[in-house]
Amino acid sequence: MSSKILIIGACGQIGTELTIKLREIYGVSNVIASDINTRNLDLVNSGPFEIIDAKNYNAIHDCCVQNNVKTIYLMAALLSATGEKYPMEAWDLNMNSLFHVLNLAKDNVIDRIFWPSSIAVFGPTTPIDNTPQHTICEPTTVYGITKQVGERWCEYYWEKYGVDVRSIRYPGIISHKAMPGGGTTDYAVEIYHEAVKKASYNCFLAEDTELPMVFMEDAIRATVHIMQAPSDAIEIRSAYNLAAISFTPKDIYHSIKKHIPDFTINYNPDFRQSIADSWPSSIDDSKAREDWNWKHEFDLDQMTAEMLKHLKVKYNS
Ligand code: SER
Repeated sequence: MSSKILIIGACGQIGTELTIKLREIYGVSNVIASDINTRNLDLVNSGPFEIIDAKNYNAIHDCCVQNNVKTIYLMAALLSATGEKYPMEAWDLNMNSLFHVLNLAKDNVIDRIFWPSSIAVFGPTTPIDNTPQHTICEPTTVYGITKQVGERWCEYYWEKYGVDVRSIRYPGIISHKAMPGGGTTDYAVEIYHEAVKKASYNCFLAEDTELPMVFMEDAIRATVHIMQAPSDAIEIRSAYNLAAISFTPKDIYHSIKKHIPDFTINYNPDFRQSIADSWPSSIDDSKAREDWNWKHEFDLDQMTAEMLKHLKVKYNS
């Protein structure tokens, strides 16, 4: 049986588009999508799909053995805003799912893992501009703590057991297919939907809050590239800094206004403001650019044009 890829958390914001791309590259029948439920019917009906709870070691193990899965993309997680509401659940899901896949690789059931880290590993004591790869990481969110600890475990499993695990510290990801869920950077997706639907947006971050972001197409390309790179090119086995564009809510508002002149915005920061304030404004990702040729393509205005084009079709406006 040819070796297969398993995506855990395939119905989420990244998983949805990653599944489509991996099926394009490796063939539909070679990419098994899985999630805890069948909430995304387009994805569920688009190829092999299994219900798998990322916290259930046996379910992941059995799927791998039965289908000759050799590569896992572990995309299930509770993000920053939800993690603050449910700290223990975030710890439980984010850490146990990671241990399950690391241990499957340690036991030679699978050969390669992609596990996403995040800019949430940084905290208020981290240098805020052009944040270096190696720097102070004192995260103040549960989500950030799980990602920072996860990075340490990934590096540990690589060093001690030779587990081929690869990771990226994703910035906020902007996309038009599946909605993000429970993150602080979600405003930068919601704003496009609301602009198309109502030409107004009530933003939960302040107008000058600058955060690192990336358009989904770029984020997926980065993920595919790091996984296709030869093992010896991957010098960092915790997680790579990755950057594309940095902008504020005000910047994105002006970018949208070029297409929707009536668009209005108001700012009502909530608890997510302090999370955003603890994260960097911009990221130094030179190591990813050197080691596996990372290069982003979309700037803010290109991304805006693409988002609005797709959402106008979606909302028929
Ligand atoms: N997009 C994530 C969040 O906002 C950061 O990785 O939680």
